[in-house]
Amino acid sequence: MADDTANAIGKSGAPASSIMDRLPATRYLPDWLPFMERLRYARTWCPAIENLTRLPFEASLRQLDSGADTESSFAHTRMTIWRENARMGVPNDFDLDDIKGAAATIVIAGNVTTAATLMLLVLYLMQHPDLQRKAQAEVDRVVGSDRLPSWADIPSLPYTRLVLQETYRMNPLSLLGIPHASIADDVYDGMFIPKRTAVYSNVWAMCHDESVYAAPSRFWPERYLPKEDGGNGEPLPVGNSGFGRRVCIGKHLAENGLLIVLALLLATVDIDWPVGADGKPQPFEPEWSFRGRQLSCRSGHPSPAAPPGRKGCWTARYEHKNIAKGDYTK
Ligand code: HEM
Repeated sequence: MADDTANAIGKSGAPASSIMDRLPATRYLPDWLPFMERLRYARTWCPAIENLTRLPFEASLRQLDSGADTESSFAHTRMTIWRENARMGVPNDFDLDDIKGAAATIVIAGNVTTAATLMLLVLYLMQHPDLQRKAQAEVDRVVGSDRLPSWADIPSLPYTRLVLQETYRMNPLSLLGIPHASIADDVYDGMFIPKRTAVYSNVWAMCHDESVYAAPSRFWPERYLPKEDGGNGEPLPVGNSGFGRRVCIGKHLAENGLLIVLALLLATVDIDWPVGADGKPQPFEPEWSFRGRQLSCRSGHPSPAAPPGRKGCWTARYEHKNIAKGDYTK
């Protein structure tokens, strides 16, 4: 279900760029007409979004009805509040449809974005073993080798945080952001922008502006450090999470989630190139494609035959660590 939704969203085209966005009445036209690929796509994939919206919500409702002692979730918590209010005669300022829609939005907006950023992080760490070692050294210094990193460690991991920021800058997931409509007539740089114009923010250009970022195609987390600390004093990137009052509501959740996963990865595994049949690392040049639909990064290598102790490109660190030996090499 999550994969179907990811597919439905990931390949649906640049946001707000279809004919239905411009002329909403066209959504009622037959989709065999010319230039109606996007309408056809929407109709084909609509059930994926509907399923994701309906099925987990109904399951959560059933659990609540059964009184089963389940793990808490957004839907579960909100429904409990909703029912409690209703029981006590307190008016609810949201209804069950609001809960259903909000829960689905969290999954739809937060799932692929966070997973894609994590994939990029792994790719950059693999491509830059020197930076990986530096981040690992930071985690080791702060966490030691007798436990796993915890939330409390995150503020003490400034370099690890910069690795994430540099990943955001290198690959903003929404290259042109999500268009916003201007709420009043405006003039920008001598250009008149009438009220209700769809305004795109060229996040890619902002993050790769050579007048702001030296060698913008280089993955270099140190660039944000002050010059006296060996950096280049460049500003942290903006725009990856959008702008203004519609800025991503999950940005802090995403950032903290990514940081704890990154710290755990750094603490527990070395991320190397996939190992070939000859047992040697096989560096590869990732292929990037921005076909206006999705960003894909393919290794071009089938799953490598891994020698004992190695699975793919993951190698467990610190076998001696006094931590629960989760099967983290899988
Ligand atoms: C690295 C991960 C993420 C990235 C890169 C990202 C990026 C974005 C961007 C670019 C927007 C559009 C903002 C705008 O209109 O200016 C957005 C909106 C949104 N995001 Fe995220 N997001 C991420 C994670 C999440 C998570 C984890 C959640 C859920 C908890 C989430 C929920 C939302 C929602 C609900 C909106 C719509 C906000 C609105 O229109 O008012 N996002 N996100």
